[in-house]
Amino acid sequence: MLEKINKLLEEVEGFAATTKEQVEEYRIKWLSKKGEVSILFDDFKSVPAEIKKEVGQKLNQLKNKAQEKINHFKETFDSEKSSNTDIPDLTLPKFPTLQNGSRHPLSLVKNEIIEVFAKIGFTVSDGREIEDDWHNFTALNTPENHPARDMQDTFYVNIDPEMVLRTQTSSVQVHVMQNQKPPIRTISPGRVYRNEAISARAHCQFHQVEGLYIDEKASFADLKQTLLYFSKEMFGTETKIRLRPSYFPFTEPSAEMDISCTICKGKGCNICKHSGWVEILGCGMVDPKVLENCGIDSNKYKGFAFGMGIERIAMLKYQVKDLRLFFENDVRFLKQFTSA
Ligand code: DAH
Repeated sequence: MLEKINKLLEEVEGFAATTKEQVEEYRIKWLSKKGEVSILFDDFKSVPAEIKKEVGQKLNQLKNKAQEKINHFKETFDSEKSSNTDIPDLTLPKFPTLQNGSRHPLSLVKNEIIEVFAKIGFTVSDGREIEDDWHNFTALNTPENHPARDMQDTFYVNIDPEMVLRTQTSSVQVHVMQNQKPPIRTISPGRVYRNEAISARAHCQFHQVEGLYIDEKASFADLKQTLLYFSKEMFGTETKIRLRPSYFPFTEPSAEMDISCTICKGKGCNICKHSGWVEILGCGMVDPKVLENCGIDSNKYKGFAFGMGIERIAMLKYQVKDLRLFFENDVRFLKQFTSA
């Protein structure tokens, strides 16, 4: 029996596996229930007592060695397998799934406003964001002591000459009137700035669309009809409008326009503060003095103008309750407009 054990021990010591399958083959051969080591343990029972100790020690040595060898090669092949995971997985799709981008909600609303007015002949005029005091205020009949000129509202970029970050896109109408001959029919979308504390309802930068119409015959009824058309296109054919008398330095008469609440359809809700109406823009007949300031004969021409905040329209359209969301660019917010 000793001879048998020694022979097997030699085999075990000289063993080197080249494949995983070989390791398994030898594990079965030596260590399984019916393997050679087990058989030897069975035979051990009949070994004479005087050599039992010696044979027993050898047998244990064989068993441990065989187990050691098998474990060693098993580990070698297992770690090789895990390092193979660096090999690219050829079953993956050709391109990783890319998330679709989306237009910013303010761009969507701006483009929609442009489209609505384009259908009735309004062109788009661009202006500048850094504006001189004359275009932003003086030409628009804003007296020097007007509160809108207050340092608290306006960001001054330069004091002499006075240059400001425009506080309203109305400044673009001044440029248009200076450079074009009537008839004029144009809208001017763009960013404006005011020195205001940032909150859910106010921001130091926001967007406006200015509208200007100048012709020999332009009446308040034309203004009203234009704005009714716009409101129905933008918020649905059911939408009603109402004009309330107001004051702007550059229009006379002036009005503010409300639309019937898009959320409760005029019944009264939180958004319209239970009045059934929400204010969306300012408007009026261009003050003759403004026409004259810009080189247009106020005896021959009349005009109407209007101005609205894009954020306000977007908040109503998409029921956004916090203005700041438009400027934070959190993708979780923007993602919602992917299919819009
Ligand atoms: N510029 C005004 C504002 O920022 C909005 C406005 C009101 C524009 C009446 C107009 C207008 O053209 O006629 O509040």
